[in-house]
Amino acid sequence: VSGGASAAPRPDHASLFARRSGQFRPSPVRAVFEIALQPGMISLAGGNPDMSVLPHELIAELARGIVAERGPEVLQYGSGAGIGRLPGLVCELMRLQGAEVTPDRIQITAGSQAGLDLVTKLFCDPGDVVVAEGPTYVGALGVFGSYEVEVEHVDVDDDGLDPEAVAERIDALRAAGRTVKLLYTIPNFHNPTGVTLTEARRRRLVQVCAERGVLILEDDPYGLLGFDREHRPPSLYSMDPDTVIHLGSFSKIFSPGLRIGWIAAVPAVRARLQIAAEAVTIHPSVLGQELAAQYVGGEHWRPALDRAVALYRSRCAAMMDALAAHMPDGVRWTRPAGGFFTWLDLDPRALPHGNLLRRAVEHGVALVPGGACYADGRPSTSLRLAYSAASEADIAEGVRRVGQMLRD
Ligand SMILES: Cc1ncc(COP(=O)(O)O)c(C=O)c1O
Repeated sequence: VSGGASAAPRPDHASLFARRSGQFRPSPVRAVFEIALQPGMISLAGGNPDMSVLPHELIAELARGIVAERGPEVLQYGSGAGIGRLPGLVCELMRLQGAEVTPDRIQITAGSQAGLDLVTKLFCDPGDVVVAEGPTYVGALGVFGSYEVEVEHVDVDDDGLDPEAVAERIDALRAAGRTVKLLYTIPNFHNPTGVTLTEARRRRLVQVCAERGVLILEDDPYGLLGFDREHRPPSLYSMDPDTVIHLGSFSKIFSPGLRIGWIAAVPAVRARLQIAAEAVTIHPSVLGQELAAQYVGGEHWRPALDRAVALYRSRCAAMMDALAAHMPDGVRWTRPAGGFFTWLDLDPRALPHGNLLRRAVEHGVALVPGGACYADGRPSTSLRLAYSAASEADIAEGVRRVGQMLRD
């Protein structure tokens, strides 16, 4: 059938995309997801929590009870601020890292990824500079890029960011006429390097940023996953709740599929973030928030979290052993005290030829090439390995394959 409508020229969608869309980058981790499903492939790529340790029957009971007893409420639209008791529970969680915080400072979000997006949207104009660790979380690079914000990396060492280097960089950028409002940092079991900022550096970092009127965006999804269950470093937020905006998440301590996280900020900022969030998601899932409140607020969460962390601790130890056994000379790696990742610095003279990920996949192992974790996409002389979701046997074999790749 021919008609006027079918004769109309088709829009050239790509030519109509907004300028900012040029900065959208596919997650290299998600790109690896499909590869990781190939038979025989061992994935040390994704930073997934292990779901097998959760008490599934209990969670199913909670979900059933929530819908059966309060279906009309939890299946209805909810409040942009989050459901009643969740902000209070978040305050209790934040107290575990030394923060005194009240519910009027908590904005519930659809995961900390959404929190990152909202804070950037509220504070950053195109052309602004965010100072961040080099390397940093790939998902943050995607957010900053989509708001046309530039990222200036400051190197990390085994103790995290060097506050003096951060101060120098902020001053130099400002002297060059650039606008710097935010320092983005992941102080605990950093993604991707696994390193943790020392307490002395935390105090100094907060001080140098406060003195310069720069806000710290503290992204902390792994803070409760320290292998030392007794001692936890205080959050940056606990040191200066006016200078620090804290991002938290239920993803790694309960379930990433629920998409529930939070932002802690001064009340005036929280209120603006709520308005910004309502424009995108209206509110996070009410059912998901209820389930998070009941499970994490109940007596079974803590023991299950301890079991999960014990598992991550043994997997990390298995990875350290395998690295010692299989890495060629000249390769360095970090020794995480918690979280999901270790970071390998390769000997530049012994770099595998061609694309690091492709070479790894040819050897039957998926990983995240280090270059993905820098805004400038520099060539990879490093890589990230995750031990959180692989068995100890797979970790040993996967690391052996990485070693083989580096030797071939
Ligand atoms: C440092 C960091 N920030 C944020 C996120 C996103 O977490 P969420 O599931 O809470 O959105 C992740 C997930 O891996 C992460 O590693």
